[in-house]
Amino acid sequence: MQQETILITGASGQLGSVLSKRLQDKFGVNNVIATDLRDNPSFVGQFEILDATDFEALTTIVIKYNVTQIYHMAAILSANGEKNPLLTWDINMKTLFNVLEVSRIHTISKVFFPSSIAVFGANVNRDNTPQDSNLTPSTVYGMTKAAGENWANYYYEKYGLDIRSIRYPGVIGYQSLPGGGTTDYAVDIFHKAIKNEPFECFLSEKTTLPMIYMDDAIRATIEVMDAPSVNIKTRTSYNVAGVSFNPEEITNAIRTIYPDFKVTYKPDFRQGIADSWPKSIDDTNAKNDWNWKPNYNLEAMTEDMIENLKATYLEKI
Ligand code: SER
Repeated sequence: MQQETILITGASGQLGSVLSKRLQDKFGVNNVIATDLRDNPSFVGQFEILDATDFEALTTIVIKYNVTQIYHMAAILSANGEKNPLLTWDINMKTLFNVLEVSRIHTISKVFFPSSIAVFGANVNRDNTPQDSNLTPSTVYGMTKAAGENWANYYYEKYGLDIRSIRYPGVIGYQSLPGGGTTDYAVDIFHKAIKNEPFECFLSEKTTLPMIYMDDAIRATIEVMDAPSVNIKTRTSYNVAGVSFNPEEITNAIRTIYPDFKVTYKPDFRQGIADSWPKSIDDTNAKNDWNWKPNYNLEAMTEDMIENLKATYLEKI
């Protein structure tokens, strides 16, 4: 079997940090090159500071380590992106183009590009949103992901680049914090509950969104990358579903463990973004093509999240 060397961008991010560890387990600690914009002194393994908008810097690392696969996790997310739309476009697209080009030139064998439920906007059926829905994103982040999906497909069709992608729902995990997304509330709410503090939610109680537990999100990533190439019939990006719920439902799930947990609602600009996104996702194609199946429902996720977060907070005391 060929020795794989994995490069990951955005390795200090919410998904990137957990994915880096999973990839280390799979490929060996020394065969994963974690990169991010800033140094990460607590990272255990190979780490390089990398601004992925810098093509030369990216190329240097690819050559230095003889990289064979790239997971491109760096991006500015939906809510933060709205604060500076043009910069968000530049950064998300430039980093993707750099990854695509370095992969084409240095014949990288596989690339992972994360897309998002943010590709959907007006003109879709918001319940069980189909894979092939019209894409009219409401955020610049969603625009970069919709455009990115088409570029991924283009590099596959034109250059044969084996690039694979999933449309992540909002990701919930105890291991890391999200940075600047519209679904961040669903992580923050757990931290408040554990600390016995009240939570003010920036979305209204009935705002249902597609979410996924970190464990499922990471497994989906590994599974889509492990599937035989012929099975990957969607080269834009796969709809992937985990669990859908609204703030009221997650509050009730948390209250089975913390009955006195207090939540108030104060929707802000993120409400408009959430209202343009699906409530649930049809992931039939992912199921059929690479056997996708989530393991965590709301109850299982809540239990696991609280158990692990409690342990994390106890360690810090
Ligand atoms: N969780 C992301 C966000 O809220 C969606 O991809 O921006």
